[in-house]
Amino acid sequence: MTSRAWADGPWPLIETPSKTQDVSKHAAIYIANEMACTHNCMIRGLNSIYLQAEQVQKPADIEDFLGFIKFWANWVSDHHILEEEEMFPGFEKAIGIASFLGNNVEQHHAFQSQLQNLLTYGASTKPGSYDASTLRGIVENLAPSFHQHLSNEIDSLLSMQPYNGEALLKVYKQCVASATKQDKALVAEYQEPSVWVSPLAGKPL
Ligand SMILES: [Fe+2]
Repeated sequence: MTSRAWADGPWPLIETPSKTQDVSKHAAIYIANEMACTHNCMIRGLNSIYLQAEQVQKPADIEDFLGFIKFWANWVSDHHILEEEEMFPGFEKAIGIASFLGNNVEQHHAFQSQLQNLLTYGASTKPGSYDASTLRGIVENLAPSFHQHLSNEIDSLLSMQPYNGEALLKVYKQCVASATKQDKALVAEYQEPSVWVSPLAGKPL
């Protein structure tokens, strides 16, 4: 009997702050909790790429799978751009300390080339030249530093608790509104990216 693989591995999900803390106590906990959920979606996406890399065989399926990879890498890039250009500067203004979240930006830049490699692979590979071991190698290069960053960022957001929660929440809500205005063309093009994640991601957090 084959055991089913879930998309909560090989890279583990992040524990959501709500598991041990009251998110209504301070906006920083609420924001960190929301971010942890988003980061876990990213981890599940990356896990599903890694787990399914060797299972996809038909050219039409490979083409769709490459589209999913492109979607995932673009989504992560957009997330980091929004954080760097709007969210982190907004939080730092509310806190009153420049570069309070600077470590997180440095981490983004540290794995940017590996993320770009994955995006390029999804965007420029033809189904006939698709190679699962090449793809898995790209993911293996990206995953350790990427996963570490996703976890560290939650701690950084939790460290905002001594500061003005109302101002922080206002910035966060503005950023959520900005995110909903991002270009959805790529998502629409592939209709339902979750089709690649959900068969392996059915377990609750
Ligand atoms: Fe983030």
